[in-house]
Amino acid sequence: MDTSTTFFSEATVKDGASPLTGRNGLGHAGHNYRHPHNNLSVEDILRDIQATADIPLERSRTLPAASYTNAEFLDWEVAHILGAGWVCLAHKSQIPKPGDFINLDVLGEPLIVVHGKDGEIRVLSRVCPHRAMDIMPPGFGYDGHGPADATEGKPGCGHTRIFLCPYHHWSFELDGRLKGCPEMHKAECFQRDDVGLKTFRCEVWHGFVFLNLSGDAAPVAEQYTELDRDLRGWNLGDMKVIITKEWDCPFNWKVLVENFMEGYHHLGAHCKTLQPLMPARDTWTDAERAHSIRVNLPYKESVTSSDESDFKPIPTLDPEHYRQMAVFLGQPSFLLFTAADRVFWYRIDPVSADRSRLLTTCLVNDEALADPKYDEKFAIAEKMLVDFHLEDMEVCTAVQRGFYATGYQRGRLSHLEMPIWLIQRYMAARSRGTYPTIDQPPAPAQRTPALTPC
Ligand code: FES
Ligand SMILES: [Fe+2]
Repeated sequence: MDTSTTFFSEATVKDGASPLTGRNGLGHAGHNYRHPHNNLSVEDILRDIQATADIPLERSRTLPAASYTNAEFLDWEVAHILGAGWVCLAHKSQIPKPGDFINLDVLGEPLIVVHGKDGEIRVLSRVCPHRAMDIMPPGFGYDGHGPADATEGKPGCGHTRIFLCPYHHWSFELDGRLKGCPEMHKAECFQRDDVGLKTFRCEVWHGFVFLNLSGDAAPVAEQYTELDRDLRGWNLGDMKVIITKEWDCPFNWKVLVENFMEGYHHLGAHCKTLQPLMPARDTWTDAERAHSIRVNLPYKESVTSSDESDFKPIPTLDPEHYRQMAVFLGQPSFLLFTAADRVFWYRIDPVSADRSRLLTTCLVNDEALADPKYDEKFAIAEKMLVDFHLEDMEVCTAVQRGFYATGYQRGRLSHLEMPIWLIQRYMAARSRGTYPTIDQPPAPAQRTPALTPC
């Protein structure tokens, strides 16, 4: 299977009209001022979000800039939204065999997602229980120094029998238990069974591996009941990740989530790519849900026939899905974009209030992998994934710069931006310790769904 990973950073795209620095060449890093409108406390921001979310959609507007720039507010989001919910880390096709693992840093935690010898997928901390060494820091520890083999072309991925901390050579089983610890026999009352890599709560849902940092979220399947119904036809658990691209994003994580979820920007940012296929004005949002959002992106009538570069449509889908794409947010950050022959999954992780790490991926089924023209179609899919995301990178980067300016104004939202309003309502509900639809009636769908459930 042909796979690839690319890392885009500011350094790699400095010249010309780069997607990260914007058309005028100004990055936000040069003028990261703290204007008074950004000096709100977390309590002020939450009060504002609650008041904003209470406004009806027809009068809705954007959030205060500080909710995208304030470091203390990000701490609140990590504690009450991201860490309290389920964050998707990986798809099981990325670690198909026992011993396969992925290293990644999410919500400030150095993690390993590992396929255990017993077949279980676990999420372990990479922090050594001896002296806190990251047992496989990026670029070290599994590229010839330890027992693990790195997977070529896929940073952070590898295969191993055991984990070995490079500092003092303590070793660990794939389930995190301590296996070896040289020269510890004189340490009094040292109980090796009490020591191991910390195990985080994780669940596999439709092939996706989710992490819950707080340890007390309701099960994924309980939260994503509507998503289960929406997505069943794709058989996500049997799909394979064929493309992964990593992006260093100079913007707040919510900028990406909001951009991903609204179809209004097809008009501008994607005027040459997505707008001719899925015009903004035809996009519409399903009724409000407690834990997810669904937006429908119907194809223009003239483009319903499939393209030569497409794989065969997935046969278990309702044929209505052949006439539209859809985007989904499994709260708080699980982003999916579905087509009849493939699914795009995005993983966004905040590094700071104004910086995020993003993984964009594409998944297909076994039939697509067996397509005689697979290599050709893969290349087109890979180019497409990059091309339309570069358009999003450019606007998201420029939006973040706007939050630091005295010229920032609270903008009014179009009805096509209903998902942004729903995200505000989710944040407001979380700040009140509840979820949307639980303590007030759900906002209605913008259209009667034509789709029958799969
Ligand atoms: S810090 Fe890991 S073995 Fe010492
Ligand atoms: Fe976009």
